[in-house]
Amino acid sequence: MSDEKSFHMTPDEFRRHGHAVIDWIADYQARIESFPVLSQVKPGEIRAALPVNPPAQGEPFDALLKDVEKLILPGVTHWQSPNFFAYFPCNASGPGILGDLLSSGLGVQGMLWSTSPACTELETHVMDWLVDMLGLPKKFMSSSAGGGVIQDTASSAALCALLAGRERATNYVSNKKGCDGRLVAYASTQTHSSLQKAAMISGIGADNLRLIEVDQNLATRPDVLAKQIDADRRAGLTPFFVCATIGTTSSNAMDPIAAIAEVCHQHKLWLHVDAAMSGTAMLCPEFRHLQNGIELADSYNFNPHKWMFTNFDCNCFWVADRKALIQTLSILPEYLRNQATESGAVIDYRDWHIQLGRRFRSLKLWFVIRHYGIEGLQHHIRQHVQLAQQFAEWVRNDARFELAAPAPLNLVCFRHKAGDAANQTIMDRLNRGGDLFLTHTKLNGKLTLRLSVGQTHTQARHVENAWKRIREEAREFATAG
Ligand SMILES: Cc1ncc(COP(=O)(O)O)c(C=O)c1O
Repeated sequence: MSDEKSFHMTPDEFRRHGHAVIDWIADYQARIESFPVLSQVKPGEIRAALPVNPPAQGEPFDALLKDVEKLILPGVTHWQSPNFFAYFPCNASGPGILGDLLSSGLGVQGMLWSTSPACTELETHVMDWLVDMLGLPKKFMSSSAGGGVIQDTASSAALCALLAGRERATNYVSNKKGCDGRLVAYASTQTHSSLQKAAMISGIGADNLRLIEVDQNLATRPDVLAKQIDADRRAGLTPFFVCATIGTTSSNAMDPIAAIAEVCHQHKLWLHVDAAMSGTAMLCPEFRHLQNGIELADSYNFNPHKWMFTNFDCNCFWVADRKALIQTLSILPEYLRNQATESGAVIDYRDWHIQLGRRFRSLKLWFVIRHYGIEGLQHHIRQHVQLAQQFAEWVRNDARFELAAPAPLNLVCFRHKAGDAANQTIMDRLNRGGDLFLTHTKLNGKLTLRLSVGQTHTQARHVENAWKRIREEAREFATAG
């Protein structure tokens, strides 16, 4: 077969089309506020517009970009819009996007140190930087017995923590023999659902994940946790793991880490701390009181892909005892053996998570940290918190509305006093209107609206407009409460 025939994009074509894609992204950023934030398409509409069959012959690249504009954009919910106030943020930034692009350009698969030393060493370095940047304990540093690794998501981090805790508690026997149904893990009724999934996947079993009652602020009650552990021990079960949360998904509740850590310490349980969204706030020393007790955690994670301007996916996961994690997840087939691994002088991150292959994710994190500097990151996080606090103040001062939970950082849970139906109507109308997007939760049985401030370009005018639009849609309910 002739080598001359090729369907590949040449470097020159790549350069030309690459410039066009970057231009497209920059233009998209400039006009993002002109789109309805929540996609308005109906189920099946996007597929109906796509050709039934794949192309037999390749098409010009320009046609692809045109179809992104015409066929794809209508089905995009604009997560990067400054008017996106739904869920938790999943923000991005210029340096993050470019770092990710470089990672694709290098096309590195960093499963072993030897498959790209820079991929491993930059990751270790950036993870060590973050320990200091977030005020985390030194035991998470690679120079101690612990260390950090980048995972795809907080769900994977929770699963790895649970597995390492399981193995430590059973002296690494359950990896071989399976679980005996006696291991018990603890979270709260407000813990993210990923813990339930982790309990299912790990063989602990969802019924053996106890969901501990919370207090009036929706934070785990350490006294109830301690009692439940005692009861389980008396019943001949083996408590082994607790997950505490800094900033729950539903309401941003803050679990009392120090008190929970004390219970874990007493009973020798693995303590995993999930700070998926709110961990980013710890860049600012004034918020670090929310992680008091973190020095007693066995593992910790946060998502730079939520609030730290690092595009999805990027989760930072640390353990205090890397041996426990590695011993839990390490398998070494012959085809992966190499001198560097045998020397013991390198980290092979394949042993630190579920999958084997791994992207060069630390590049985007490195770019973000170097572009903003600690000062820039702190500036924008403080701005988001300030905007949310301003919004909470407006809610407090409007007799028709009430705050539904404390607002310690950048999430405000609130509702109209006219009841669930009114709040549902207000939210549906706002989201259909397209000029902002917010979502709901249920707190103490009542439908509650959530305004989450964390998009990269959200400024005062966006939050002011959100409050204006919320009050407009609430007008007809003014006297109903
Ligand atoms: C507190 C908390 N933990 C875990 C998760 C799961 O995150 P991921 O999508 O990274 O698995 C979330 C997502 O919002 C979260 O808020």
